[in-house]
Amino acid sequence: MFNDKNIFITGGTGSWANELVTQLLENYKPKKVVIYSRGEHRQVEMKRHFNNPLLKFVIGDVRDKNILNMAMHDADIVFHLAALKHVPVCEENCWEAVLTNIYGTQNVIECAISNGVKKVIDVSTDKAVDPFNLYGVTKACGEKLVVNAGKNYDTKTIFTCIRAGNVMGTHGSVLPLFREQIALNNEITITDPEMTRYLMSTKEAIGLVFKAVTKAIGGEVFVMRMSSTTVEEMANVMIEIFGNKKTKKKIIGVRPGEKKHEVLVSKNESPRTKVLDDNYFVILPQDKNSKLEDAYGNLPNISSEEFSSLNAKRLKNSEFLSTLKKESWLWEKQS
Ligand SMILES: NC(=O)c1ccc[n+]([C@@H]2O[C@H](COP(=O)([O-])OP(=O)(O)OC[C@H]3O[C@@H](n4cnc5c(N)ncnc54)[C@H](OP(=O)(O)O)[C@@H]3O)[C@@H](O)[C@H]2O)c1
Repeated sequence: MFNDKNIFITGGTGSWANELVTQLLENYKPKKVVIYSRGEHRQVEMKRHFNNPLLKFVIGDVRDKNILNMAMHDADIVFHLAALKHVPVCEENCWEAVLTNIYGTQNVIECAISNGVKKVIDVSTDKAVDPFNLYGVTKACGEKLVVNAGKNYDTKTIFTCIRAGNVMGTHGSVLPLFREQIALNNEITITDPEMTRYLMSTKEAIGLVFKAVTKAIGGEVFVMRMSSTTVEEMANVMIEIFGNKKTKKKIIGVRPGEKKHEVLVSKNESPRTKVLDDNYFVILPQDKNSKLEDAYGNLPNISSEEFSSLNAKRLKNSEFLSTLKKESWLWEKQS
């Protein structure tokens, strides 16, 4: 799939991309991997860290179609990961979120088509389902643009989406925040103890991305079947690792734009959602597509009305603890 291919990653210096690059270089022999992002500092750090001549670094913004188009000129496979993804940041900078997450995604689509890219994989989020905040709205628009691109434009490029919930330890996620709070104040701030969130390690998430890429026909949304846990359980596990008897938990209330439970497959989507294997659901488009029907039509339908973090399999504390202990970011020196 990736051997001898030119891979292009927008948002190439982010958390997902770092693991994606690690697994690409460990398990495949790509011809070249282009890292496309705006910040030079993170590119320099990443270049030093990987120290691999197959990695090429290009400074650019997904909003800048000219540069994007030139940088993508020989790409075979595009992973579109660039996004503004912090819920409060998107709420406070609405137009910036629209420009990066919607306009930028349309630029990726158009550049991929004009450069004859074979596959484009957009990574989306549970927050795009029945969106409640602007981040989710922009990612929902991005999904629509991507899954419709194959039918709206006369192109051989395969466009597909992968939807996932929270990935442990990524920039801005709650677990590094809890660790920092324990170190600074010996206190953890909890929005709502009963709030549930999907949770998966970056390693697992990228493994699943690869599986989806192999299967993708175009126009479908792959949904990772993730386990979930409550915010209180996350806090308890972090206290078990880093805290002591005096570590406090402080309830601060839900922030604007946050849902109590997240949803990966909505009630409106479930009638056309298939169970691919233990790891995935596949959401088919509303209008009939014979290729997708041939590939997925015989698979069983999802059994629940919706797939939410409330009804998902709960991570046992012991499972969560052992997964977390394997996460290298957890043990890195805090800044
Ligand atoms: N983290 C999660 O738990 C999670 C879950 C589900 C889905 N996702 C999705 O997965 C993707 C990657 O997430 P992540 O956690 O890896 O994010 P991240 O660590 O914040 O990385 C974002 C990347 O995008 C780049 N970027 C931001 N704006 C850009 C722009 N206008 N043009 C070009 N590059 C830009 C950033 O670099 P510069 O700022 O230097 O440009 C960085 O490389 C996102 O699309 C996110 O919505 C994440």
